Amino acid sequence: MKFEYSAGAFVYRKRASSIELLLLKRKGSDAYDLPKGHIEKGENAVQAAVREIKEETGLDATFLPYFQTSTHYIFTRKKVRISKSVKFFISRAQSNKVTISNEHKGYTWCGIDKAAALLKYKDLLGILTPVKDYIGRYEAIQKLNNEYTQLPRAVETWELSKNFVPGEGPLNPDIMLIGQAPGANEDIQRRPFVGRSGQLLDRLLKETKINRKNVYITSVVQFFPFKNREPSKDEVTLCKPFIERQISIIKPRYIVLLGRIAARAILEEDSVSENRGRIIEKNGIRHIITLHPSAVLRFPKNESILKNDLSMLAEELKKDKKENVNIIKDHGPVA
Ligand code: URA
Repeated sequence: MKFEYSAGAFVYRKRASSIELLLLKRKGSDAYDLPKGHIEKGENAVQAAVREIKEETGLDATFLPYFQTSTHYIFTRKKVRISKSVKFFISRAQSNKVTISNEHKGYTWCGIDKAAALLKYKDLLGILTPVKDYIGRYEAIQKLNNEYTQLPRAVETWELSKNFVPGEGPLNPDIMLIGQAPGANEDIQRRPFVGRSGQLLDRLLKETKINRKNVYITSVVQFFPFKNREPSKDEVTLCKPFIERQISIIKPRYIVLLGRIAARAILEEDSVSENRGRIIEKNGIRHIITLHPSAVLRFPKNESILKNDLSMLAEELKKDKKENVNIIKDHGPVA
């Protein structure tokens, strides 16, 4: 058996409210395929996919972060059995100008349902639904972030920073982590949980074997309250519809609420100490209330509380995985 590795992408564009995929027709065949090809020596899958997209379509790749999936099949070529693995990314086309390679004789942009009818390979049909789902989530989060970024301009007395700190992570995670509001470092870097609280959180996630790269991380208020003050009730009320929309787009199985502000905004619970250490079901999502890492920074003896709650989450996830052996989670950062 010979092993071969390829990489490619679902290239899409947005037309009004519909999503269209780019399919290519190879010379000598009447069926459609995706831009894809061999991973050459010295290349990784991302580099190969970028190159193949350029060579086969003339487009520059702009991958959706965190998404990666793969297919695997076995076939015979000149009497040799070949085991082939293909890694796929999703790329949002920045231009409509497609220039196909001389290995191809045509192309089409088509809706995802039509693509299911046109695509030649069965393995691709199997990943079409998760791809469609991921693109939908990505577009919805982009729209939400664009609106949320404008919020400071729509409010007469805005007392937070005007730098929007978007949520970060895969858009189809098991876990969504919600903090209070960005701090000064987050405000500068425009990334959630990258300051001292974030470093502590990273260490505890590592110690409890939860991979931050598989978690969607955000905060109730996504603008820095200067001097690290607590966001006011009015500020939380203004931002709440946005975090609720994020939750309904991301649809995680678990939400970890870090601290009282998050617990109050999402579950209307005022006490962390009375509600921590257990699973609270709401709208089909399992919630865990725990301490904010800043409470551990202030009182280091609190560390075991936050760590125990994260360990409980890790155990629950393990149990879920055993019960749902058919759930395929195949995401990771594009790197
Ligand atoms: N604390 C939060 O609640 N959110 C961040 O992004 C950083 C610190």
